[in-house]
Amino acid sequence: MSGHGTPTPMTSHRCGPLSGVAEVPGDKSISHRSLILGAMAIGETKISGLLEGEDVLDTAKAMQAFGAEVVNHGGGEWSVFGVGVGGFAEPGNVIDCGNSGTGVRLIMGAMATQPITATFTGDASLNGRPMARVTDPLALFGAQTVGRKGGRLPMTIVGAADPVPVRYVVPVPSAQVKSAMLLAGLNAPGKTVVIEKEATRDHSERMLAGFGAEITIENTEEGREITLTGQPELKPRVIAVPRDPSSAAFPVCAAIITPGSDVLVPGIGLNPTRAGLFTTLRDMGADLTYENEREEGGEPVADLRAKYSPNMKGIEVPPARAASMIDEYPVLSVVAAHATGKTMMAGVKELRVKESDRIDAMAKGLRACGVTVDEGEDWWQVTGLGPEGVPGGATCASQLDHRIAMAFMVLGMAAQNPVTVDDGGPISTSFPIFEPLMGALGAKLSHG
Ligand code: S3P
Repeated sequence: MSGHGTPTPMTSHRCGPLSGVAEVPGDKSISHRSLILGAMAIGETKISGLLEGEDVLDTAKAMQAFGAEVVNHGGGEWSVFGVGVGGFAEPGNVIDCGNSGTGVRLIMGAMATQPITATFTGDASLNGRPMARVTDPLALFGAQTVGRKGGRLPMTIVGAADPVPVRYVVPVPSAQVKSAMLLAGLNAPGKTVVIEKEATRDHSERMLAGFGAEITIENTEEGREITLTGQPELKPRVIAVPRDPSSAAFPVCAAIITPGSDVLVPGIGLNPTRAGLFTTLRDMGADLTYENEREEGGEPVADLRAKYSPNMKGIEVPPARAASMIDEYPVLSVVAAHATGKTMMAGVKELRVKESDRIDAMAKGLRACGVTVDEGEDWWQVTGLGPEGVPGGATCASQLDHRIAMAFMVLGMAAQNPVTVDDGGPISTSFPIFEPLMGALGAKLSHG
């Protein structure tokens, strides 16, 4: 698990044109959900293309601890033999979710309406993140929680023996909170209703329907209202995990800022709840095209072709788009540093409670590399230096955050001087093949 080992500094040197095909790994959000819902179905769920990053491997281990059989056949092919809704066993030990907020919050939801007790922990990053946003609403089902001050891990949840269904309006734009509530609702009798004011990634809803749950979605005055009928018998499935748009963001943005580049990133999920970065890049003037648009496993998919784009302009990113690109702001800020003019990113308070405070982490590193960044509690603004205008030449702290580490590695590819991160270890939580994949395209990454 990241954050438990010795820090491994990593440096990115200015490189020549990036070119070739970047086959990024499977979608992290969909991978977690495949394992958890597979464990709650009865019988064998077969998964291909599973992301084998540390976050997802921790969720696989957790599902075993709750009694499911999880088999790795190799090459991204996995099977989960589920125990059914309400069939979780009590784990014999503490569940360590490593760096993963999605893992811990979704698993807490899944076990909160079952008559078992489980204790959760994680690395230093995860143990600093707010969990009350999940445990407070899970109490409505009848679950009890004891944790550290401020609702932090380590934390013990006593699942509700007689859960009741719940109606809950999610107060923050969070797919993790929404999903935790839906997973808890699975083992409550009757209808659980979850309302989100802003649409967030909808993989849980799509997958619950695919596993045979009765789930309806309606747009009401209060927001997007999801109604789930509890205690279904979930049927096992065959799941092909699409490649992760949040990982695709790194080779795409690297190609856009590195002179002469032309990179193809095939088979990327373009679910509208996830594709905000690509729309934003095109709004800024990026040479980014969608080829071979198609549908796979109920999700829109395309091959992305990204070429060097020397005429990028700073823009105001619409706050309404934030949820659909929430994990992509760090690497967008790197592109913004190479654009002409200012890029304003507002309505992004959630960035402060990710694996790190991502506004703070990027602002500090970008400033050290010679870029002007202004910030407030829920906004930040990057002043672009134009193509090839970023000095670089600094060591930036990755703050146990994979996306911060990768964003600074992308910065180094086009900066005038090398960019170092103090610890590249966290990259393996979501993109374990980042280094060889970017190296094969022409990036110059070194250790130290
Ligand atoms: C995720 C939801 C988002 C995102 C995270 C993955 C998910 O978090 O940042 O990387 O899979 O549900 P929030 O729900 O906290 O916004």
